[in-house]
Amino acid sequence: MEIFPLDIATGGAFCNRTQEIARLSSNIESTTHTLITAPRRMGKTSLVIETLSRIATPKLIPVHLDLMLTSSPTSIQQYILKAVGEAISQISPIASKLNIAGQQLKKALLSLRPQIEITDDGFKIKLEATKPPVESISDALNGLDALAHKHGYRVVFYMDEFQQLAEMDENETLEGAIRHAAQHAKATAFIFTGSNRHMLSLMFDDSARPLYHLCDRIVIERIDAEAYATYLQKQAKKRWKKPISDASIAAIMTCTQQHPYYVNVLCRHLWRENTPPSEKKAITAWSQYVQYERGRIVSDLGKLTNNQRELFILIALAPTSQPYTEQYLSQTTFPRGSVRNTLNRLEALDLVIRDKAGIYRLQDPAIESYIRQKQQGSTLIHTE
Ligand SMILES: Nc1ncnc2c1ncn2[C@@H]1O[C@H](COP(=O)(O)OP(=O)(O)OP(=O)(O)O)[C@@H](O)[C@H]1O
Ligand SMILES: [Mg+2]
Repeated sequence: MEIFPLDIATGGAFCNRTQEIARLSSNIESTTHTLITAPRRMGKTSLVIETLSRIATPKLIPVHLDLMLTSSPTSIQQYILKAVGEAISQISPIASKLNIAGQQLKKALLSLRPQIEITDDGFKIKLEATKPPVESISDALNGLDALAHKHGYRVVFYMDEFQQLAEMDENETLEGAIRHAAQHAKATAFIFTGSNRHMLSLMFDDSARPLYHLCDRIVIERIDAEAYATYLQKQAKKRWKKPISDASIAAIMTCTQQHPYYVNVLCRHLWRENTPPSEKKAITAWSQYVQYERGRIVSDLGKLTNNQRELFILIALAPTSQPYTEQYLSQTTFPRGSVRNTLNRLEALDLVIRDKAGIYRLQDPAIESYIRQKQQGSTLIHTE
């Protein structure tokens, strides 16, 4: 098993987040719906998958839909119908008593013409959309919930990258269908995650939108430095049979700013060495990685307007809790009147965040390091 994965972290690769796991588990058990928000690559999907793997609820059917690649109501309709069909196939009394179940399915999913397809390793339930997307989605989710409830099952319906829905035609009717299913659910806990917090906030915090006040909300942050220190010591002993120095751990934490994705990027590199890294080695490896990312960083910076780029660079070099003071802004050239809008836009794009201490800083520690390195570097070309 990869101990510092670049994709979903579970089991031995999963560090801390004890409180979040406890809260999400208790929500699932009490059929409370949950919205999890965090910037990109902060660990949303890992948190849900790890919680589901630890949870001991009997007869639980976890469904995971990643909406990343869906772009129209019809594509989301097909995806949800497939998921509901697969989830129903997990309800074993249905498998053992197909005949009676066939009638039940027909009743619960009337508009969806349920068909049972027998496959080599069991069977599949296929649903056909005979109504427009919104109605079929509603029928499918309500039908799944009714069947699960009848047979004493629980369902977790996890929709990842949920902000995609807001971009589609008829988004509010789709949101309405999901609200309806969630509000009437007896056996289904919905989990929504997504990295575009601005868009999710428009969907869930606006009293005029259907999903308003539907969910308990978990916001995940960077992983606590102490928890990381214990975890990295454990991984060091496993790898080298000796400890890693506190100074090296501190350097890893400072470079990556405890961002789970970047901790994994740096550590998977350092853990390939034959001995525990020194502090200097950790800093050099990070600095090389940041240079290696130059293409992506330059392309991200290129998408900003001049004003946005100027403020973004200033915040990278000097994170601040008071971005509107004249002293701070005296380092920039753009009109003072536009600062608030520019900063709001950078926050909406998730490029700048306001941390727990109220400090505005860049969301991405690699970009911050890159800008600082550039600022400190010499402009001379050194020829030997
Ligand atoms: N609790 C954790 N312990 C260790 N590593 C973690 C943890 N959570 C996440 N990671 C690591 O952080 C990175 C991002 O994780 P994940 O894909 O779960 O985040 P995400 O917020 O769903 O990302 P995206 O916004 O891309 O969907 C991965 O490299 C993963 O291995
Ligand atoms: Mg994810």
